[in-house]
Amino acid sequence: MLKIKVFAVLVSFCLLLTTYKSSFARRSKLADSMPSIEGINLQGKRVIVRVDFNVPLENGEVADDTRITAALPTIRYALSQGASVILMSHLGRPKGQANPEYSLKPVAEYLSRLLGQEVIMAPDCVGEEVRSMAQQLKPGSIMMLENLRYHNEEEANDPGFARALASLADVYINDAFGTAHRAHASTAGIAEHLPSAAGFLMGKEVEYFDRILQNPSRPLCAILGGAKVSDKIEVLTNLLDLADTIIIGGGMAYTFLAAMGKEIGNSKVENDKIGLAREILNAAQEKGVNIILPIDHVVVNEITADAATQIVESIPEGTMAIDIGPKTIAIIKEALLETETVVWNGPLGMFEIAAFARGTEEIARFIAGLSATTVVGGGDTAAAINQLGLADHFSHVSTGGGASLEYLEGKVLPGVAALKSGRTK
Ligand code: 3PG
Repeated sequence: MLKIKVFAVLVSFCLLLTTYKSSFARRSKLADSMPSIEGINLQGKRVIVRVDFNVPLENGEVADDTRITAALPTIRYALSQGASVILMSHLGRPKGQANPEYSLKPVAEYLSRLLGQEVIMAPDCVGEEVRSMAQQLKPGSIMMLENLRYHNEEEANDPGFARALASLADVYINDAFGTAHRAHASTAGIAEHLPSAAGFLMGKEVEYFDRILQNPSRPLCAILGGAKVSDKIEVLTNLLDLADTIIIGGGMAYTFLAAMGKEIGNSKVENDKIGLAREILNAAQEKGVNIILPIDHVVVNEITADAATQIVESIPEGTMAIDIGPKTIAIIKEALLETETVVWNGPLGMFEIAAFARGTEEIARFIAGLSATTVVGGGDTAAAINQLGLADHFSHVSTGGGASLEYLEGKVLPGVAALKSGRTK
């Protein structure tokens, strides 16, 4: 009897040790993979920080400050360490031309109000005048460079342009997760010239997405919505090897329902993707991935804000589906109750029209109440969550639309890769 007890204690100890070792290995793998701003001495240094301040402007004013507030911890930390901070970003797509419509000046003014200190606006992002302004910066001061995309060399990842940006500072910090899927001079090339590290926002984004892709708590449920299957093919393919359940909603669901031979009326369908949808459904079955598609729908005759809606299980001819119905909401909630990790990318209906937003809204509120790890991809879904005031109830709401999508597709983002291979000293 005693022998059995000793054996059982030994086995439990070995199991504990293995679990501890693997979780430690996992933690250090995530932590070691990308240098952090905290590992660099910033005292008295000029620190150039790539942020993604590509924010919507309305009548020349910042209309959504999510990306600006998300970069504050890095900016404040650098200032608190005795650095001077040079911020650089793009805004819109000015195609290599200086154009006041795309100036970062309103963003600098907004940031200055948030921080309660002056943000000096540079007339450009490179050149003698900018260099001399950078050299005169005192510790604790901030300067914002003008839109990087006023120069074609930025998007071309031109080595000379990357060097010119680097020449303004002693240290490079990338906190622009939203632009990490672009291999540009300010997100990739510059890391070859300066000691480089990730800011806090970049670190947090990468940590959450890596956790989902490398070591999720299971069951893992992915919710994919949005208008088109073609935008989500690679994510779907990648998630088929990762997720336990995939919920498909939004316009893209109707290509899948068409592939299953269901009546979809005038609902949006990508005819050239029906074959692929069928292949994805077959692959899911082979891999044992549970796919949930809408079983009832909100339909309209035409898409107008005040259109009369109807809830149906079979879509009548001449009508189109614009949201998931109550039975679908119920089965999604039931599936979500079981999950440990939820990753969501793409609204479940035409969220931009209030009358068609119920599915997205109800599921968002439900997920907000779960104790699971809940991660929302950027873009439309993040906008929906922010609009509902639910962001604080999710584990992480990404600031990157395209970037989070590419991460979930399993791609290596050039901005992240540059930090991993860039100079650390
Ligand atoms: C975004 O908003 O997705 C990023 O800022 C990248 O912008 P881009 O698509 O113009 O490169």
